[in-house]
Amino acid sequence: MSVTVFVPRDAAALAVGADKVASAIEREATARGQDVTIVRNGSRGMLWLEVLVEVRTEHGRIAYGPVKPSDVASLFDAGFLTGGTHHLGHGLTHDIPFLKGQTRLTFARCGVTYPLSLDDYRHYEGLKGLANAIAMAPAEVVKQVTDSGLRGRGGAGFPTGIKWKTVADAAADQKYIVCNADEGDSGTFADRMIMEGDPFVLIEGMAIAGIAVGATKGYVYTRSEYPHAIAVMEEAIAIARREGILGASVMGSPYAFDMEVRMGAGAYVCGEETSLLNSLEGKRGIVRAKPPLPALQGLFGKPTVVNNVMSLASIPVIMDRGAQFYRDFGVGRSHGTIPIQLAGNLKHGGLYETAFGLPLGQLINEIGGGTISGRPVKAVQVGGPLGAYFPPSLFDTIFDYEAFTAAGGLIGHAGVVLFDDTADMLKQARFAMEFCAIESCGKCTPCRIGSTRGVETVDKIAQGIEPEKNKVLLEDLCNTMKFGSLCALGGFTPYPVMSALTHFPEDFAPTPVREAAE
Ligand SMILES: Cc1cc2nc3c(=O)[nH]c(=O)nc-3n(C[C@H](O)[C@H](O)[C@H](O)COP(=O)(O)O)c2cc1C
Ligand code: SF4
Repeated sequence: MSVTVFVPRDAAALAVGADKVASAIEREATARGQDVTIVRNGSRGMLWLEVLVEVRTEHGRIAYGPVKPSDVASLFDAGFLTGGTHHLGHGLTHDIPFLKGQTRLTFARCGVTYPLSLDDYRHYEGLKGLANAIAMAPAEVVKQVTDSGLRGRGGAGFPTGIKWKTVADAAADQKYIVCNADEGDSGTFADRMIMEGDPFVLIEGMAIAGIAVGATKGYVYTRSEYPHAIAVMEEAIAIARREGILGASVMGSPYAFDMEVRMGAGAYVCGEETSLLNSLEGKRGIVRAKPPLPALQGLFGKPTVVNNVMSLASIPVIMDRGAQFYRDFGVGRSHGTIPIQLAGNLKHGGLYETAFGLPLGQLINEIGGGTISGRPVKAVQVGGPLGAYFPPSLFDTIFDYEAFTAAGGLIGHAGVVLFDDTADMLKQARFAMEFCAIESCGKCTPCRIGSTRGVETVDKIAQGIEPEKNKVLLEDLCNTMKFGSLCALGGFTPYPVMSALTHFPEDFAPTPVREAAE
């Protein structure tokens, strides 16, 4: 009987040689006359273990990793096809503590299934949410999403149900669902992972959104750096169309919905929803003033739902298990689960989906295993390049939108980037201003000019030129950007800058002092 061996096809696994590992397993199996079927699954999200090879045994799936092509012969020698002992072995995959501690609702299938198998998708509860949505009145679907407490996972944490209701209530001959898959935040990869590892969940989520608000057309807007995600999504869309999940009659219902993938030209600001819409329309990716809201006048001037991949990929489980099931996870006004992405100087980088409420420190020190360098933790930046730097004294902050805001930060797309004590926070503050200057769309003065003046001011502090006066100036500049910018690029750049200055004042000491201290 053929033994099933799983070798991920996720970009993170490919980057560390997954294709070569798969070929080596195939070659070795042929040479030894062993019958092996290789399935190219998505990633389990334990990136430090990639390439993570799994073998299906009668006891469950057994994991080995990180596997290199040169390890393959010894894996066969150790009898890995029957779960044999090897120094790269981790036992049953679902018992690995990093995976076992998670609550996987959105990522339930990722890494488990073959991403392009609809049979696999159906076998693991897929399409049940869509079937339920079809059986309900569209307004009831919107109500379910509202009642679930789901908030946008793209950055702002805006309630998804309220956005959908605005679009549903707007009268128009055409409405759109736009999936924001630009994923520009540093250290984030959840959107990519789900598109590569479980594309049908996004298709299902978008089809449900279409039915709920009366939209017949959807677009996934993503970046050119995601060629594998684009290829998987396009193939999955073609399969869904062929199988009647997309098209003139969604799963035999009276609802029509179809979708396609569009690739951006590459700019951080094109992740901002109005800039994204301009880019999707073939225009320059420049921010539009609000109002009008995209929900009322969005793509081509029509009512449009713009939601992040994670928001839309969370819809099927809500519609399958019910609003209350989802709502019961989390704390306060942060309901459900949040797929946190662990990156930077972390021992165990990867994707960790958990109910809201986990303390930041537990995530860094226990789950993430602390720094990979073995040096003390200095800071963590949560929420991408516009997120604040938190020192260890703030590590009791729990993952909850309100708790992060109260601590002067933001969850954003839940990217977590760790820095050890070698990080220079003045350089990080300068980087934030420089990033803003490079990525600014140029529409408003506080961001366009302020960011460049910000770089100059940080440089003056670094050079010891009137440091106290320039620190006051920097703070003043940050306030102007915070309160005077048109969008969050200029409006949130002050967060990393001011948090660096507030929590790490020693790094902003004038040069002579800094040199003396070193
Ligand atoms: C500069 C900037 C970049 C952004 N980049 C992204 C992005 O890459 N992906 C995303 O989903 N949202 C991004 N956003 C947030 C979007 O404007 C918008 O709030 C989001 O797509 C709405 O979806 P949600 O409600 O599901 O979160 C960005 C916002 C700003 C200001
Ligand atoms: S804040 Fe920056 S990116 Fe946003 S509209 Fe103004 S110039 Fe453009």
